[in-house]
Amino acid sequence: MSKKILLGVTGGIACYKSVHLCRLMVKAGYEVKVIMTPAACSFVTPLTFQAITGNRIYINEFDAGVEPDIIEHVWLAGWADEFIIAPATANIIAKIAHGIADDLLTSTVLPYKKPIFIAPSMNVDMYANPVTQKNLALLSSFGHDLIDPNTGEMACRTEGKGRMAEPEEIFDYVFCKEKPLSGLKVLVTAGATAEAIDPVRFITNRSSGKMGLAVVRQAKALGAEVRLVAGLTSVGTEGFDTVKVQSALEMLDAVQKEIAQTDILVMAAAVADFRVAEYSETKIKKTDEAEITIRLVKNPDILKELAPLKKNGQVFAGFAAESDNLEVNARKKLAEKGLDMIAANDISRKDIGFETDDNEIMIFSSDREPFSTGKVSKDTAAEKLLLFARELYGKKNGSV
Ligand code: C5P
Repeated sequence: MSKKILLGVTGGIACYKSVHLCRLMVKAGYEVKVIMTPAACSFVTPLTFQAITGNRIYINEFDAGVEPDIIEHVWLAGWADEFIIAPATANIIAKIAHGIADDLLTSTVLPYKKPIFIAPSMNVDMYANPVTQKNLALLSSFGHDLIDPNTGEMACRTEGKGRMAEPEEIFDYVFCKEKPLSGLKVLVTAGATAEAIDPVRFITNRSSGKMGLAVVRQAKALGAEVRLVAGLTSVGTEGFDTVKVQSALEMLDAVQKEIAQTDILVMAAAVADFRVAEYSETKIKKTDEAEITIRLVKNPDILKELAPLKKNGQVFAGFAAESDNLEVNARKKLAEKGLDMIAANDISRKDIGFETDDNEIMIFSSDREPFSTGKVSKDTAAEKLLLFARELYGKKNGSV
C-alpha cells in the first residue's frame, strides 16, 4: 500500500513551492491529501492541489454534508503516515506551539500522534524574532521535526534566513533522510536525580533535561531505537520509551537493567554525588533549633559501576559540566569513568548550558583530536555527538 501523506499548506508566498513538493510526492507514488488554511487559498487555489493529488482539498472544518460519516480532523490525523506542514508561517508555528486549534489544520495537528515535519517560511525579521525562536524551540521540544529554512533573497526584497527549504530538500529530508543509527539501541539518561530527605523534601542538581531530551529526539530521528531513563526534568518526556526514576540508586538500577541490550549509552543526567544518610519516614518538623544537620553519604558513580559490565562493541558517552580547566577535567573523567567519549561544556558561560536552548560542547575521546560543535541548538549539538558516537561504534564493530 502506498504511503499516505498529509500536507498542510499555510498562507505564505512559498505556497507555490508546495505545489511542486506535492507533485514530487505524487510522482514518488505516495497518496497525498492536502489541508489548506483559508490564507493559503489566497496564494494558490485549492484546484491546483486537487488536480495534482486527485483528491478533494480540505479547508473548512465545518463543511456540512461533505463526508458526513467522518469527523474530518480526527480522521485525517489517523489516516496519515507522515504529516508535513510547508510552508509553515510564524502564525501556525505559534499556534501549534501553544496548542491552539481554531481551524482544520491546527485541529488536525492536536490528535496526530507522531512528530510533524515543519518547514518554516517567513521574512527574516519575523524568523529572528525571539517569540518565533522560542516557539520553534517549543515545537522541537515536543518532538516535531523542523526543516531549517534557507538563507537568501526573500519575496519581500530582503536577504536573510527564512526562505522555505526547496521542495527537493524537503522531499529528501522527509523521505530520504539518512538513518545512520538504524538497527542500533541507544540508552540515554537525562535530568537530575532527586535524593529524598523526608517525604516532602529532597536534594537535587540543577538540570533541565533539555540536552538529554535533545539526544533522545536526535537518536530517534537518526533511526535508533531509544530508551530514556529520566530523573527530574523541566521538559516533557511524553512520547518516548521512558523509565522514570528519582534517586541515583534508582537510576543506577534502571541503567544496569538496560545496559546489556544497549549499543550506545549517553549519560546526560546530572546525578547527585551524595544522598541523605538517614531518610526520615515522617516530615522533619520545624523546631526552635537554629540549625539542623543532615548527613550525606556518597552515591555510586553510575558510569564507574557500569565500566566492568561494558562489552567490547559498546560505546559509552558521558558529559562533563566544568567551570574551569575544561580539558584537564574532561580527560580525567574520560579515563576514570571508562568512557569512549565525553562532551564537556563550560558552565561559567551564561549563553549556553543550563536551562538554555543552545549549547557548545567540546568532544574529547582517545580516538581523535577534541572538536567543538560551535554554539548551536542543543538538537544540533546532540546530532553531532551521536554521529561521532556512531563513528566510534563503527570502528569497534568493524564497519564505518
Ligand atoms: O563526575 P561528574 O559528575 O562531573 O561526571 C559527569 C558524568 O558522569 C555525566 O555523564 C554523569 O551522567 C555521570 N555520573 C554518573 N554517576 C554519578 C555522577 C555522574 O554516572 N554519580
